[in-house]
Amino acid sequence: MSAIRILPPYERRLLSDHLKRLDREDLHLRFGGYLSPSAVERYVDNLSWMSGVVLAWEVDGEVRGCGELVNDRTVLPSAAEFAVTIEHAWQGQGAGLALMHAALLVARNRGLRRVHLLCLAENPRMMRLARACGAKLTWEEGEILGEIELPPANPLSLAQEGVQLLGGIAAHSLHDVRRSAAKTARQSFGDWALPGA
Ligand SMILES: CC(C)(COP(=O)(O)OP(=O)(O)OC[C@H]1O[C@@H](n2cnc3c(N)ncnc32)[C@H](O)[C@@H]1OP(=O)(O)O)[C@@H](O)C(=O)NCCC(=O)NCCS
Repeated sequence: MSAIRILPPYERRLLSDHLKRLDREDLHLRFGGYLSPSAVERYVDNLSWMSGVVLAWEVDGEVRGCGELVNDRTVLPSAAEFAVTIEHAWQGQGAGLALMHAALLVARNRGLRRVHLLCLAENPRMMRLARACGAKLTWEEGEILGEIELPPANPLSLAQEGVQLLGGIAAHSLHDVRRSAAKTARQSFGDWALPGA
């Protein structure tokens, strides 16, 4: 089962663990170069959680994709930069699109008017994804700049976020409850107690 939720700062390790699972090529496409595990840790530690939002896409309670929105300023931001990563085995199944739609909804509901992204010219999949989300793409010094104008938030967009992202939190909590029940059962009855739990 997959779901999207906003990752709170105290779960930042889930973001770094996800980024450390990316292969070299995907790290290059995301950061423009390879990042060692310790560089990933530093990157995540330096992220300002006060001026952005991290969205996690989880499959059976494990983070397999993240979308990061970084605002242009902490107070009264009007725009944010967006970046997204999906672990290799889960690519090409619509997860990137789902994360980007969720990120645009979150940005819109926080009063932002624009989201932009930068991607390498050798990243056609990201360009197709950006276009599918309504981005206008232009060349900018060897990179592709994607820009998306957001409509103002309305009651429907706020309700949509509630339904989509609270569903992700509920799925996460359910998974946690299931995992700790399985652990208790294993401690009490051994490994055969709940196969596959
Ligand atoms: C780029 C990336 C995030 C895309 O995520 P993904 O889950 O693989 O993407 P999706 O499956 O949601 O969508 C990609 C495909 O669906 C297509 N698609 C999905 N919905 C679509 C729609 N409504 N209309 C048109 N096309 C659509 C996309 O055009 C694209 O086509 P492709 O499979 O032929 O390449 C992922 O491949 C990745 O993590 N790459 C490495 C890191 C990276 O490049 N990050 C971007 C930095 S900004």
